[in-house]
Amino acid sequence: MSLPPVTPDSRDHPPLPPVRVERRAVDEAESRAANGPDWDRYADDYQATHGEFLGDDGFVWGPEGLTEEAAGILGDVRDRDVLEVGSGAGQCSRWVRSRGGRGMGLDLSHRQLQHSRRLDEATGVPVPSVRATATALPFRDGSFDAVFSAFGALQFVADLDDAVAEVARVLRPGGRFAFSITHPTRWMFPDDPGPEGLVASQDYWDRTPYVEVDEATGRVSYVEHHRTLGDWVAVLAGHGFRITDLLEPQWPEGHERVWGGWSGTRGRIGPGTAVFGCDLDA
Ligand SMILES: C[S@@+](CC[C@H](N)C(=O)[O-])C[C@H]1O[C@@H](n2cnc3c(N)ncnc32)[C@H](O)[C@@H]1O
Repeated sequence: MSLPPVTPDSRDHPPLPPVRVERRAVDEAESRAANGPDWDRYADDYQATHGEFLGDDGFVWGPEGLTEEAAGILGDVRDRDVLEVGSGAGQCSRWVRSRGGRGMGLDLSHRQLQHSRRLDEATGVPVPSVRATATALPFRDGSFDAVFSAFGALQFVADLDDAVAEVARVLRPGGRFAFSITHPTRWMFPDDPGPEGLVASQDYWDRTPYVEVDEATGRVSYVEHHRTLGDWVAVLAGHGFRITDLLEPQWPEGHERVWGGWSGTRGRIGPGTAVFGCDLDA
């Protein structure tokens, strides 16, 4: 399936418009209004750059290349109802489906979901997907046995408490929740894959979001939200989750791929990714 061109609006702008970077408070509405269109603009480039590494029906937790096959943090997915939040082109959910699970995707970006349709047709493994946001999941209570997110929505939402509450609501009692995020300690360093990214210069406890502002329009065009490790423990415990795993994948020998701020130079010294696994109270 060939994809239609991006919307006229985003075609009018270069894929990555000139931005200035700030740290400042941004609420949920502004985060969503920025990040949806940002992922629409970025999706073609993202899939062209990372699609092969991710695999059309592969499940990779992050730039280190840790696979769910190796990690087993989600548990057995066969005959399970499994929701992926921030599913992008649905590669991970396609892996779940190819292992006998009823995987389903959810993403904020229309363009990412168009790529998911493209891969549905290319692989013959369709992933039913919905466009929605992590803070308002369009499902009934207790619809899923497992929910996961591989660098999906969680670090893009301002209202993390709402997002985790939603996961708890749509899970069945005893359900599994697993997700990967940028390792919180990375926020102490510049997002640079080279040696400059090894020099701690930023306050770990400063939760002020990272914000990109479109120089031309003055509008917020991208937002990421930071939480400390303690914040993650508190929000999960606060919604009835018992944390069973916190994986900090090591940089594999011979792996020289650079992905944004992730590289061997940094990854051989400290973790770039955190993968949490937890169980909802039964
Ligand atoms: C880094 S990509 C990860 C996608 C996929 N897991 C992968 O590995 O390619 C992050 C995804 O989260 C989605 N996203 C961002 N904010 C979201 C939100 N509030 N609700 C749902 N999805 C969101 C983006 O559209 C994007 O597809």
